[in-house]
Amino acid sequence: MKVVFIGDIVGSIGRDMVFNYIARLKRKYQADVIIANGENAASGRGITKAIFDDLLRSGVDVVTMGNHTWDQKEIYDFIDDTDYLIRPANFSDEAPGRGMTNITKNGVTLSVINLHGRTFLPPHSDPFEKAEQLIEEATKISPLIFVDFHAEATSEKIAMGWHLDGKASVVVGTHTHVQTADDRILPGGTAYLTDAGMTGPYDEILGMKKEDVIYRFKTNLPVRFEVPKKGRSQLNGLFVELDDQTGKALSIERIMINDDHVFEA
Ligand SMILES: [Fe+2]
Ligand SMILES: [Fe+2]
Repeated sequence: MKVVFIGDIVGSIGRDMVFNYIARLKRKYQADVIIANGENAASGRGITKAIFDDLLRSGVDVVTMGNHTWDQKEIYDFIDDTDYLIRPANFSDEAPGRGMTNITKNGVTLSVINLHGRTFLPPHSDPFEKAEQLIEEATKISPLIFVDFHAEATSEKIAMGWHLDGKASVVVGTHTHVQTADDRILPGGTAYLTDAGMTGPYDEILGMKKEDVIYRFKTNLPVRFEVPKKGRSQLNGLFVELDDQTGKALSIERIMINDDHVFEA
């Protein structure tokens, strides 16, 4: 199975990048499944039903989330009605939605798991233990398991990679919005990347207008960050090929599309 993952989609610029490139990415990588992190898809904050539907219509198969999951309150009204929008599995048991789903393409099933780090982030329950529990469940269905670990600290993400080496097919980090260059296949066969990077504005700060972010750094005064509607854009993500029988990764490749890294078909 070939899987393309798209890092945090930020605002309309990010959504447009997905719409512009998804067919080309599918073709280039012969992708069976496309997964995208959508926690910033609605103006940088959460996701709406209309945006989720647009992403699915464009060819995204599963949307994962993160710390911005609940920013758009309407998510409460639809997250339980779909199998293809998941939020971190180690949120409270009271939280609506779920943290794992399955997607089947051409007779092969992939389990997708979303987890949330807790270093420099709110203290959710233990993502390492949760990962083990969910993987035990998932392996009853398929050896192909994809984990989006939404976390701030590189160390916590690397720890998760090693913790799940040989247990998950892929562990990819999201949340920092900056792609790391440490793509590798760990000895147990797990494809690993500390952060996939973001999809959205290219000339701003993690997707937010740079003037506002600089102002806050200089003054420590409250500013509401906004995602610009115009400007240059980028798409970042990951491609992995998995062995359908063993679930082990066969190859891994970072995806980076921007004016300095032109897409090659
Ligand atoms: Fe994000
Ligand atoms: Fe995040």
